[in-house]
Amino acid sequence: MDYNSNHRPDSMERITTTESANKFVEEQVKAMKEMIGDKKVLLALSGGVDSSVVAALLIKAIGRNLVCVHVNHGLLRKGESEQVIKVFRDEMNANLIYVDAVDRFLDKLAGVSEPETKRKIIGEEFIKVFQEEAQKLNGISFLAQGTIYPDILESEAGVKAHHNVGGLPKDLNFELVEPVKLLFKDEVRVVGKALGLPDNMVYRQPFPGPGLGVRCTGAITRDRLEAVRESDAILREEFEKAGLFHKVWQYFTIVPDYKTVGVIDGKRSFEWFVVIRAVNTKDAMTATIERIDYDLLERITYRITHEVKHVNRVLFDITPKPTGTIEWE
Ligand code: XMP
Repeated sequence: MDYNSNHRPDSMERITTTESANKFVEEQVKAMKEMIGDKKVLLALSGGVDSSVVAALLIKAIGRNLVCVHVNHGLLRKGESEQVIKVFRDEMNANLIYVDAVDRFLDKLAGVSEPETKRKIIGEEFIKVFQEEAQKLNGISFLAQGTIYPDILESEAGVKAHHNVGGLPKDLNFELVEPVKLLFKDEVRVVGKALGLPDNMVYRQPFPGPGLGVRCTGAITRDRLEAVRESDAILREEFEKAGLFHKVWQYFTIVPDYKTVGVIDGKRSFEWFVVIRAVNTKDAMTATIERIDYDLLERITYRITHEVKHVNRVLFDITPKPTGTIEWE
């Protein structure tokens, strides 16, 4: 395949089977070996499917000459950073730098309630942290990115500039390595499977760059963020048990900065509420609501109100997009 091309040739077959994925992996590994030689490559590894597949491909091609930087900004879901370390450092022997930037991000975000300002702070801080890590390293020649084909098509059409966390500064002056840039998302997943990545990484639902930050609405506090993370983990566990993992496109919880009165153990409580969102969509431009079984909703409500600290109520958001957006901020 032509590495410099941003256009998918008509002759390129869709990757739908393990066989076609293996062929792609073989070709890419060979091409990357030739391109990179014994030079070093840097990658921001979030643990999302695109960056994970790029990491696995590059580990196959150049082993520890790939330097992965995983920034924990404190807004990831429960267990995500741990999984990145387990899969890449422990199982694949990756050269992985783990950056604990939790305090740094949460201190910067303290008291900030305006959604766009929150997003801006998270994006800018991410770039700063990554840049600082890059400057500590010597002899890096390439920067790898998990750009996929829709990113290229949307950028060309002027639909969106890539402003995601992980959208990295241009002035780092590295050559780019973008091995999945001609693939669609479903193809990236098939390649991820073929590379042996775990299902919950490969079939992960979309997760916004600013992470749980946009689901801890208003000014983020550590205890409310913890309520978002814990309730999200319970929701995911129960949805997976109920067989909804592959069925529902995106599901998560939100904890707004608002308290209501309730009663816990016979005593008045004044605590937050958790909102459940579960949507289906093709392109995220519009979305419909998944009709959740009431028994399941009740089970989740019981668990959240009994297991998550500072929560006394659960609501289910049945607003489609439009008029609601999928995220609350
Ligand atoms: P909305 O809330 O706009 O979300 O209906 C549509 C989809 O986009 C995701 N989302 C983001 N994804 N960076 C991302 O990569 C972001 O800043 C961002 N904000 C929203 C959202 O989770 C949903 O899947």
